[in-house]
Amino acid sequence: MKVLLIGSGGREHALAWKIAQSPLLDEFYAAPGNPGIADHATLVSLDVEDHAAVIAFTKEKAIDFVVVGPEAPLVAGLADDLRAAGIATFGPSKAAAQLEGSKGFTKDLCARYDIPTGAYQRFKTAEPAKDYVRAQGAPIVIKADGLAAGKGVTVAMTEAEALAAIDDCFDGAFGAAGAEVVVEAFLDGEEASFFCLSDGKTALALATAQDHKRVGDGDTGPNTGGMGAYSPAPVMTSAMVERTMKEIIEPTISGMAKDGNPFSGVFFAGLMITAKGPELIEYNVRFGDPECQVLMMRLKSDLLPILYATATGTLDKVEAEWRDDAALTVVLASKGYPGAYDKNTPIAHIPEASEEAKVFHAGTALKNGSLVATGGRVLNVTALGKTVTEAQARAYALADKVEWENGFCRRDIGWQAVAREKA
Ligand code: AMP
Ligand code: GLY
Repeated sequence: MKVLLIGSGGREHALAWKIAQSPLLDEFYAAPGNPGIADHATLVSLDVEDHAAVIAFTKEKAIDFVVVGPEAPLVAGLADDLRAAGIATFGPSKAAAQLEGSKGFTKDLCARYDIPTGAYQRFKTAEPAKDYVRAQGAPIVIKADGLAAGKGVTVAMTEAEALAAIDDCFDGAFGAAGAEVVVEAFLDGEEASFFCLSDGKTALALATAQDHKRVGDGDTGPNTGGMGAYSPAPVMTSAMVERTMKEIIEPTISGMAKDGNPFSGVFFAGLMITAKGPELIEYNVRFGDPECQVLMMRLKSDLLPILYATATGTLDKVEAEWRDDAALTVVLASKGYPGAYDKNTPIAHIPEASEEAKVFHAGTALKNGSLVATGGRVLNVTALGKTVTEAQARAYALADKVEWENGFCRRDIGWQAVAREKA
């Protein structure tokens, strides 16, 4: 099979690493890719926003299958345009990608199909949103409706914070994404991410993971795209997985199909496991980043036929097998992230991978032959272990061998699971 992978992050490096191991693979391209992905695929400097150029490339190389990693091209309809051109594509349609692209869309779906989620209202102007906040009181959650790179959410512990967040959204802090605001009840519990494939009819549960969204140790400081993750999430017992499939995932898949937007691709539910059970915080229509990195380390099966079955409506014919081991990834980020940070800082050394541990590239580039950091989140140091404690120790041991002066990481990724394992 000739495969084109779209994307350039740590998630795509992990997907590329896994796809490259498939005996079904003949030729492998990535656009735009990164220096880590270049170990597995030929990089192509395509403008991913130019759908005609992407299609032209797939025709020129007789590509059989395109895998779209990030959300932005999905929300822009790249998967629709590729499929219309007759190319098998992994990734949802633009209409189905609204599950992530619009928080209001998802909340309305939940309301229609009785999917448990926090009570909410949607607003297009500040004053009624503020009145609603004053009536509900804090804690309360303010969300920009559209895509804001994981930063459009304020969990406001006070009313003043909530009112300020509403002003920020409508003042344009998140651009067009903040033109509509969702105000949502605060859910108390432990978070987990639940990954699932769907071909529009069948859902195949993959695995669970836990992300660390806050920038600082002890889950403090502003939200980021994710500073580290581990899999499986211990809070997701098999009973909780069963409830999630029945109460959240299955009604979503059948509801999307009923509404005329069948979902094809991978999605993950951000769940809050509350005293009442699993409640949906949000959906994402792609692999999480950095959650994908830990999932790929744990996946025993060949990834390529699973992705292809998802794209071609034959998901009922495949299974995914997982290692019992835990996996954990630590994000090395540029100092200053998620605020402003220096670009093009030199990365002097990345340690060799072993069977149990590997460094994925996220925001790196080659400048005049030298590796530099170009993004906020730059490297993902990922390790397996019999326990999360063991995976954590391995990941930090490897992270400490990375030589990058402008980098930092959280030192406590996996703390909840490690505390559980000690107890
Ligand atoms: P989201 O972008 O919707 O995943 O939100 C980012 C983070 O904000 C989530 O991972 C949660 O930690 C937090 N969050 C979002 N919605 C809620 C909620 N209703 N209650 C409590 N925390 C929330
Ligand atoms: N790590 C969270 C996300 O990819 O949305």
